[in-house]
Amino acid sequence: MTAMSDIAGLVADARSAIEAADTTEAIRHVAATVSGKKSPLSEASRALGSMDPESKKELGRQLHEARTTVEELLESKRTEIRFTELSAEMAASRLDLTEYVPGSVAGPDQRGHLHLVSQTRDALEDVFIGMGFDVAEGPEIETDWFNFGALNIPPAHPARGMWDTFYLDLGEPETTLLRTHTSPVQIHLMERAVLEGTLPIHSVMPGRCYRRDTPDARHLAVFHQIEGLVVDRGITFADLAGTIETFTSAYFGPDIHSRLRPAYFPFTEPSAEFEVTCAICKGEGCRTCSQTGWIELGGCGMVDPAVFASVGIDSDEWTGFAFGFGIDRCAQMRHQIADMRALIENDIRFLRQF
Ligand code: PHE
Repeated sequence: MTAMSDIAGLVADARSAIEAADTTEAIRHVAATVSGKKSPLSEASRALGSMDPESKKELGRQLHEARTTVEELLESKRTEIRFTELSAEMAASRLDLTEYVPGSVAGPDQRGHLHLVSQTRDALEDVFIGMGFDVAEGPEIETDWFNFGALNIPPAHPARGMWDTFYLDLGEPETTLLRTHTSPVQIHLMERAVLEGTLPIHSVMPGRCYRRDTPDARHLAVFHQIEGLVVDRGITFADLAGTIETFTSAYFGPDIHSRLRPAYFPFTEPSAEFEVTCAICKGEGCRTCSQTGWIELGGCGMVDPAVFASVGIDSDEWTGFAFGFGIDRCAQMRHQIADMRALIENDIRFLRQF
C-alpha cells in the first residue's frame, strides 16, 4: 500500500460503500469497515512507520486527506439517514385529528357540547348576573386558614366534622388541602376588597369542591358549588331571604319557591338551610323529598362578625350575607336525574340528552 492510485481507490471504495448504506445500522457497519481500526486506511497509516522519511511525508499527507474525505462522507450520510428515518417515523405515527370515521362520536353530525354541569353553572351565573352579582373564582388547593381558620373554624373545632377533608402533603410549612366548599373564595374576595379599598362586594363564586365521601345517588366526592357573598352597608336577613327566593323562581320556574330553616354554620350567624319546592311532585310530597315537598339545596346566613374580623372588615360599618349550594344538585333537580353518579360516569348516551 504505497501508491497514490491505491489511496484514490480506497476513497472510491469507501464512497460507494457509504452511498449504498441506507439505515443507521448499515452506516455503522460501513463506518467500521472504511475508517475503523482494521480498515485499509488505518492499515496504510500503520505501514507509514517503516518508510523512508521522504515518501512517508508525502503519503502521510495523502492519507490524512483521504481520511478527512471519508469522515465527511460518513457524516453527511448519517445526517441524511437520520432525517429519512425520522420522517418515516413521524409519518407512521401521524394522527389526523380531522379524520371523519362514519358512525364515530367525532363525526361532524355528532359534535360534542358542554357537559350538563358546565351548562348548569353557566345558567346559574346568568341568573345571578341578571340580579346584579359579578362572578369570581378561587383556587381548588387551599391552606387550612382559607378553608377553615378564617371561616371561624379553628383547628380541632367540632364543626370540622361537617367536612371530610382530603389533606395534601406538599411539603409546605402550612397545612394544604383540597377545598371542601367554595366558602374560602369569600375570604379571598374580602381580603382583596380590603386591600384595594373596593368594598362593597356582590359576587357569586362557582367552582369544584372535594370531600372524602363515598359517592351515592345524591353526593359526589368531587362536586360543584356556587357561593354567594354580599357585603354592604345595612344588609339584613330579609335581603338574604329575598335574594334566595328571587333566584329560586328565576332558575327553577315560577311555581318553585324557597324556604329557610334554622341551621348551624360556624361562618354565619344566624344560619339557615335553604330548601326549594320539590320539582318532582311540585310540593305534593313524594319519595324523592321524603313526603316533605321540599328539597335541600344548600346553606346560608349572615356573615359572622368573627369572619369579618379575620379579614379586617369593621362589622359596625358593614354587614353581609352568604350562601352556598350544589351546582350538581341543581342539575339533578332540574332534570330529575335519579342518580347523581350519572354526571361523572361519562356514558355518552346519558350526556347527549342535555
Ligand atoms: N359552605 C357551606 C357548605 O358547603 C355552605 C354555606 C355557604 C353555608 C355559605 C353558609 C354560607 O356546607
